Amino acid sequence: MTPTNHRLVHDPDGLNTATWPVGTDHLVTPVDLFFTRSHAPVPEIDPATWRLEVGGLVDHPRTFSLEELGAFPRRDVTATLVCAGLRRDEFLTLGPLPGELPWGPEAASTGRWTGVALRDVLHAVGPADGACHVELVGLDRVERLGQQFGFGGSIDLAKALSAEVVLASELNGAPLPPAHGFPLRAVVPGWIGARSVKWLGRIRLSAGPSPNYFQSRAYRFQREINPRDPRDITAGVALSDVPLNAVILHPTADRVVPAGRLLVRGWAMGSGGRPVATVEVSPDGGCDWVQARISVPGAAWSWSFWEAALRLSPGCHTLAVRATDSAGETQPPSLSATWNVKGYNNNAWHRVVVRAE
Ligand code: MTE
Repeated sequence: MTPTNHRLVHDPDGLNTATWPVGTDHLVTPVDLFFTRSHAPVPEIDPATWRLEVGGLVDHPRTFSLEELGAFPRRDVTATLVCAGLRRDEFLTLGPLPGELPWGPEAASTGRWTGVALRDVLHAVGPADGACHVELVGLDRVERLGQQFGFGGSIDLAKALSAEVVLASELNGAPLPPAHGFPLRAVVPGWIGARSVKWLGRIRLSAGPSPNYFQSRAYRFQREINPRDPRDITAGVALSDVPLNAVILHPTADRVVPAGRLLVRGWAMGSGGRPVATVEVSPDGGCDWVQARISVPGAAWSWSFWEAALRLSPGCHTLAVRATDSAGETQPPSLSATWNVKGYNNNAWHRVVVRAE
């Protein structure tokens, strides 16, 4: 950590933490600066006895030890994990979001993940006719609705068979730290962080999506409040792709900056692996825009860093950023356009108020 950033801790057990702001020199986030998001304590796993069970709608169900997985070709992917709760705190200006962690823009980090391709493992067991979804379940013990179970969710078979989805045993060239899923985790680039299941213990192919709480009752996009149960989002749509987003990293909110020339820096990332085409920064909340320069271009599944020089007169200014991706998709200006019952996937223009002196 540098003296200018610090670790924010969002729960009493220190399971949900992130450093802010992150530097913009290197795309890959050092492990000690990586955010952590865990719904239950980190399980203790003995790698010698650990096994991955792969079953459900497959021709040859089987279990794999770490050694057996090591027989598959090694795969590497540089991918940014984005928590679906990123920038939820901005929604709190519209009303409370009971029970949800008030993440700011800090819940995103980029890792170099090494392991084996999920598709190689799936080809080894042979997806059977009718298999459409791949459920991933962790060995942690989460408690919800009076029951204990492993955190999990599913991705569709097409994504699971894509080259980028990795079962990772290493982060940034070293064994996965316990908090990030030791000994093995899924990494599903481009999808919300929740589908990158840590402490992976079971993979199950099925005709329908996972019934796991975190697929069927959380991590769903729903705009209408159920009046009978305001926290129920079962009628919503399960989240998958992370939306196009851009975040201002420097200056941070409520800072006093020197009047005159100011270099604004941040990250941007397209949805579905699409590259970012342009990033624009506004010195006045969105009236005028200056095109930013991509200072460190990202890999297919990672953020890119950008910078733009603005001129600020003395006084208060609302800086804003918006990105456009290669498909012409852009970000909504207002929070109300993206608001949803649990405050997921906020990708409205990111605004930061500063005072120039
Ligand atoms: N996997 C398990 N088993 N348990 C969890 O609580 N949290 C998910 C995902 N995988 C989680 C999990 C969520 S919501 C996110 S955003 C990412 O892990 C965070 O990964 P990290 O802690 O390595 O940053």
